[in-house]
Amino acid sequence: MSQWNLTSWREKTALQQPVYPNAEHLAQVENTLGKMPPLVFAGEARQLKEALAQVANRKAFLLQGGDCAESFAEFHANNIRDTFKVMLQMAVVLTYAGKCPVVKVGRMAGQFAKPRSAGTETVGGIELPSYRGDIINGIDFSESARVPDPERLVQVYNQSASTMNLLRAFSQGGFADLHQVHQWNLDFLNASPAGGRYQGVADKIDDALQFMEACGIGPGLGQLKETDFYTSHEALLLPYEQALTRQDSLTGGWYDCSAHMLWIGDRTRQIDGAHVEFLRGVENPIGVKAGPTMDPEDLIRLCDVLNPNNEAGRLNIIVRMGADKVEEGMPKLIRAVQREGKQVVWSSDPMHGNTVKASTGYKTRRVEDVLKEVQQFFQVHNAEGSYAGGVHFEMTGQNVTECVGGAFEVTEADLADRYHTHCDPRLNADQSLELAFMISDTLKKARS
Ligand code: PEP
Ligand code: CO
Repeated sequence: MSQWNLTSWREKTALQQPVYPNAEHLAQVENTLGKMPPLVFAGEARQLKEALAQVANRKAFLLQGGDCAESFAEFHANNIRDTFKVMLQMAVVLTYAGKCPVVKVGRMAGQFAKPRSAGTETVGGIELPSYRGDIINGIDFSESARVPDPERLVQVYNQSASTMNLLRAFSQGGFADLHQVHQWNLDFLNASPAGGRYQGVADKIDDALQFMEACGIGPGLGQLKETDFYTSHEALLLPYEQALTRQDSLTGGWYDCSAHMLWIGDRTRQIDGAHVEFLRGVENPIGVKAGPTMDPEDLIRLCDVLNPNNEAGRLNIIVRMGADKVEEGMPKLIRAVQREGKQVVWSSDPMHGNTVKASTGYKTRRVEDVLKEVQQFFQVHNAEGSYAGGVHFEMTGQNVTECVGGAFEVTEADLADRYHTHCDPRLNADQSLELAFMISDTLKKARS
């Protein structure tokens, strides 16, 4: 295999890239971003890799979640706070049930570029280039909004930096202190079954903390006062990723410092493609989406190329087949990985294989399909003797109506009420928490 360098991906075919009308302008922006401070530090990416190695070794569970697409319009401290809160709640529920640490990774602070199934979109007989995420063009259906603009990369960098700053403050500054476990419940959850069940778990945690403290254990324990929260996004727009990649002064290794973890989407995982080429050379933890067309031999080749040293915690296979396809599609992948002795973390993205169009025209997902895919994921791993290591959700702390179902049933007619996503439909806070409880029951069984 030829030598990797920062630009070797440019010799390969890069799918899903915009064509900028002014290449010189893009080059200037890349140059500007190349001089900006990194958003994460290489040592943190190594720490996440160690945490994911614990997942690979069945000692921890991965919870990855956040927006399908972050946007400029929805950028607000409250949105960041509420998604963070729901992830903390889900993590508490899963930790409590699984009796194991939960590694928390947000689809946040950089999740802006979207692969699209079609290059253009037609509305009322007018055909325009597709919206590709706020890092590339605008969502408005107008010719000028859809022109790719390099300045958007700078705005994404700035928004990601301040999002990252707030996430660091929340996770290290007292907000994530386990003594605050009751405060993470969002007001509108108080009336819901999942919110009520959460209060029950929070009461038990409170009791345990008080007991420990009465015994003189606890108050000084840093682990109770703060949490590790990592960021991730799809490394789709390669000029942005390259511009934020730095050589670590401690180890000499290259790290993509736009996030702790990066993943390759289901549409850009070609073995000889630019995305695989770029990510094989950086030392962050990496994910690869595996849809129903993933071939076992290709998966093994991806393991060889992306994780040549077979390091635990480096590679996360994110399976997103659809509720009806996991049982048929996943065993052959697991068997190939087992046969070849590859170290991987398996996680389930039960969102992207379950997108349907509602009768009202909205793109939606049914909570029951999401749950079904996760349960099948656990069942198949159980049957194959491998470890179901985590889940990957598109979710938000907001009370949106984008996915149908859940205890507070969102119907197809409700979708129009609060449908705010810039791309795929997300679980709302209530649906997310409800799913965490349902998964916690499965996790408890799987780990007992
Ligand atoms: C996504 O995670 O938003 C996404 C586009 O996923 P996939 O590549 O699996 O379709
Ligand atoms: Co999506």
